[in-house]
Amino acid sequence: MEINQNEITGELTVVFLGHVDHGKSTLIGRLLYDTKQVTSDKIEFATARSQEQGRLLEFAYLLDGLEEEQEQGITIDFTQTRFATAKRQFILADAPGHREFLKNMMCGASRADAAILLIDATEGVQEQSRRHGYLLTLLGIKQLAVVVNKMDLVGWEQNVFQKIKADYEEFLASIGFSAQAYIPAAAFTGDNVAVKSRQLLWYPGKTVLEQLEAFRIKENTGIPLRIPVQDVYRFGQRRLLAGRLEGGLIALGDEIILWPTHEVTTVKAIERWPEANVHQAIQGENVALELSDPLFAERGMIIAKSEHPPLVSRSFTARIFWLGRQPLVPQQRYKLKIGFQETGVWIEQLTKVLDIGKLCEVATDTLPAGFVSEAILTSDQPLVFDTFHDNAELGRFVLIEEYQIVGGGIITAALTNKQTGEFRHDRGTDNLFPTAGFVTKTERRRCNGHTSQVFWLTGFSGSGKTTLARKVEEQLFHKKYQVYVLDGDNVRSGLNGDLGFSSSDRKENIRRIAEVAKLFVDAGIIVLVALISPYAADRDLARSRFEDGEFTEVYVKCPLEICEARDSKGLYKKARNHQLQKFTGISDMYEPPTKAEIVVETDKMPVEMCVKLLLQHL
Ligand code: ADX
Repeated sequence: MEINQNEITGELTVVFLGHVDHGKSTLIGRLLYDTKQVTSDKIEFATARSQEQGRLLEFAYLLDGLEEEQEQGITIDFTQTRFATAKRQFILADAPGHREFLKNMMCGASRADAAILLIDATEGVQEQSRRHGYLLTLLGIKQLAVVVNKMDLVGWEQNVFQKIKADYEEFLASIGFSAQAYIPAAAFTGDNVAVKSRQLLWYPGKTVLEQLEAFRIKENTGIPLRIPVQDVYRFGQRRLLAGRLEGGLIALGDEIILWPTHEVTTVKAIERWPEANVHQAIQGENVALELSDPLFAERGMIIAKSEHPPLVSRSFTARIFWLGRQPLVPQQRYKLKIGFQETGVWIEQLTKVLDIGKLCEVATDTLPAGFVSEAILTSDQPLVFDTFHDNAELGRFVLIEEYQIVGGGIITAALTNKQTGEFRHDRGTDNLFPTAGFVTKTERRRCNGHTSQVFWLTGFSGSGKTTLARKVEEQLFHKKYQVYVLDGDNVRSGLNGDLGFSSSDRKENIRRIAEVAKLFVDAGIIVLVALISPYAADRDLARSRFEDGEFTEVYVKCPLEICEARDSKGLYKKARNHQLQKFTGISDMYEPPTKAEIVVETDKMPVEMCVKLLLQHL
């Protein structure tokens, strides 16, 4: 096919949905074949393979050939085929199942502009057709065409088509959605695919190919500036925050706010590959920003402008689509991801459970797979988001259980925030009025005769954090100091008993302990925190909660081999035998501190010397 480059107006992604047997691959294969976009060796290959099975040319095999070629070196659970007409280039995406579909859509790996949903004319509207339709609304795909396939098998009957169209129209209307077109077709014979059917003369509308060309590239105009921070890079003194502009525009010198910490700064430089320094960037572009102030920044934060702040809350209402093998149980903990944000979450309440396949409301306390529900969710940490209505990218999330995606959802509204303290902007909206007491920290310190501060001991399990903390505690206590140890194993046995060892749980463990340590410091007490705290960003966040001089990071350094040889708790052995997952140093990473105020090497120094180093710092 001749392609006039000038007429190509951009690449449009169309996702094909439908039951496996409804002819998705045949339809895509047929499109490629009829528009002459398959090479002759592909056709030979498909013909030979079809003949082996005693069949005519099986169009799906054309696609399989392409898939195989694409699949080399990369695992795709979402087959994508490139395709072009004189008017436009397309990516045709075929999702094998709900889970893969959700995963890809939610992770932004594919941002479909439109969808083609196949319904088998011999079967009519099935439960799965309804689930697919519902998923589209969750994913914010607004352009849909329904192809009623296999019309050849129902004698090209107009009545059959009209009945399916009426059924599905009614369903879509009930979920507030509609399709742009209903197309009767037969992918196998090519009727109404790329060429108008001679059998379906009663149908005046577009062919599938014409409909593809009629779809528009999704425009996300009107969304205020949102840059989810994907990574923070350091180049010498420079620190760059990398992310994609999900909405809006950013220019040098703009005042921006980092959420959820609500810190204000300005844009010092904008890097945009491949031009390096630019003056501004717009929606859809990937940038790396340098800020004017050395604010704490990490993956998952959101950059926005003050005029249009995002919502921040630990509580919100949502519509959830559940896929888990086990039903969703309220109050049980799951992991939630919105873009790069990740936190523990639980469902407070399922307010309205629908069997979307059968389209009826059901009375149940749990949410079985394939069902949807309106729900109230609460997260461990404040989330930064928009409602799905305002901004799909920041308004949808996935739920994860044991590394598997088990559900997806969209946020319908933020609820009153239950979070206290940490995030300044929450106070007003929360109706919280923190008070300062009449007894100040300074007065307490004067009365105690010493400052209050936190020693944050980080290091591998078995490096000697607890031993060291206990010794320091003992010595200070005997000198009449107010002192206390917050040890990971102890706090995890009580306050943090609900947390495990995933990165988000570790983060929450550290956040809570930092908050408790802060209360102790306010109370005039010296706190020794003994926590593996393996990730630098989490330790930095803990540090950011304290005033200058109050936080001393102590790197309890000891080579992993020696910690493993000590193995006082027998945990390294378990980790090596795969009885313990995500064990720091073995199956999970440890980021050694680069700016610890004190480094003690417990394999080289006697414990008394380590103790002395800490005491000198008081
Ligand atoms: S942290 O990573 O969140 O800072 P923390 O110091 O609270 O960890 O807890 C570490 C203690 O939990 C270890 O001393 C060990 O006894 C226990 N533990 C159990 N499972 C793990 C694991 N997968 N990785 C590290 N420690 C573990």
